[in-house]
Amino acid sequence: MTTSAEIHRGLAGVVVDTTEISTVIQETNSLTYRGYPVQDLAARYSFEEVAHLLWYGELPDARRLAEFRAAERALRPLDRTTAELLARLPETCHPMDVLRTAVSFFGAEDPTEGDGSPAAHHAKALNLLAKLPTVVAADQRRRRGLDPVAPDPGLGYAENFFHMCFGGVPDPDVVRCFEISLVLYAEHSFNASTFTARVVTSTLSDLYSAVTAAVGALKGPLHGGANEAVMHMLEEIGDPARAEEWLEEALAAKRKIMGFGHRVYRHGDSRVPIMQDALDRLVARAADPEVTRLATLHAALRRAVRARKGIHPNLDYPAGLAYHLMGFDTPVFTPVFVMSRVTGWTAHITEQLAHNALIRPLAAYAGPGQRPVPIAR
Ligand code: ACO
Repeated sequence: MTTSAEIHRGLAGVVVDTTEISTVIQETNSLTYRGYPVQDLAARYSFEEVAHLLWYGELPDARRLAEFRAAERALRPLDRTTAELLARLPETCHPMDVLRTAVSFFGAEDPTEGDGSPAAHHAKALNLLAKLPTVVAADQRRRRGLDPVAPDPGLGYAENFFHMCFGGVPDPDVVRCFEISLVLYAEHSFNASTFTARVVTSTLSDLYSAVTAAVGALKGPLHGGANEAVMHMLEEIGDPARAEEWLEEALAAKRKIMGFGHRVYRHGDSRVPIMQDALDRLVARAADPEVTRLATLHAALRRAVRARKGIHPNLDYPAGLAYHLMGFDTPVFTPVFVMSRVTGWTAHITEQLAHNALIRPLAAYAGPGQRPVPIAR
């Protein structure tokens, strides 16, 4: 080892910078965006208003919101080149690969890619916010053998996504549950994908490169990929009566139980109660035996994990099943997370640039000591 400094594997517990965007208040176990408790934002505000709050520091007034909404709606359509490029990607690839490629391509197309001014950043962030749902919806439809549905500028962000995915907008209760998930997913301080975006930005690279990298970080099942993995896990268990036995086998095989545990929350993810409430409403309105089976299994596994490991669910646990009940295909769950988290990522990219320091930690070397290279080969 070349240093005796304390090692923090996974940067656990390390504070690397300040942020004004969000924080988890450990004493009250609550998450705030720009000072506002996220559960209050989710209950009373639209996703567009929360996006504005994250980017500009304040909730918009009525005039500002109307301008913001009009700008977002105008940017939703994809140009033909992008649509054709994405339609050529193999259907065997994951929808997160499509999204990652799309973000990278938007950067290649944007003549202002390298402009790092706050105004240029806000324009690029809005462009991504507007276009990513169009990409995700078209990709889901393509995999179902359907033509894309054009965005509807008369619809809000959440409603329009349903419209582009399914050619119709569901009951307002369902849209509301979806919007709540978008608000809860929007921002979470220095999580792995946001930190990735900040690392890329710290080299003075461009916003699209930072977001492309963040999409890659979010894809993993220990992070955003967990909402999709939750659904696969529920399908694997199948019968609610098998939850405890399955859990024992999974733990014996040293598997991580998807949708449980969190690096920051020690007493439960503060976002879970409000998402669980939204999920319960979706279950109640479905009144379907198959939905009841899934909800019973979901609750049984939650109880079993709590009793056996003392671990709480994280946001991905209720969100995964909620997205299934809303009709989305399982591989689309993490792309939906991107549609929301792109707001947090881009807020952090702007903040990183405002007082940048290259992010470059040290490592304690654990390889062979210095030795002479062999003279003869
Ligand atoms: N399943 C089984 N065991 C777990 C789980 C889990 N989901 N989470 C934590 N543990 C165990 C660890 O193995 C460890 O046990 P040990 O001390 O016997 O080795 C102990 O609990 C403590 O783990 P932590 O220190 O809390 O783990 P860490 O902070 O490194 O990991 C993480 C956090 C990656 C989220 C982990 O809980 C996990 O893998 N969860 C499953 C994946 C998941 O749901 N990810 C979504 C995160 S939230 C989000 O992205 C929105």
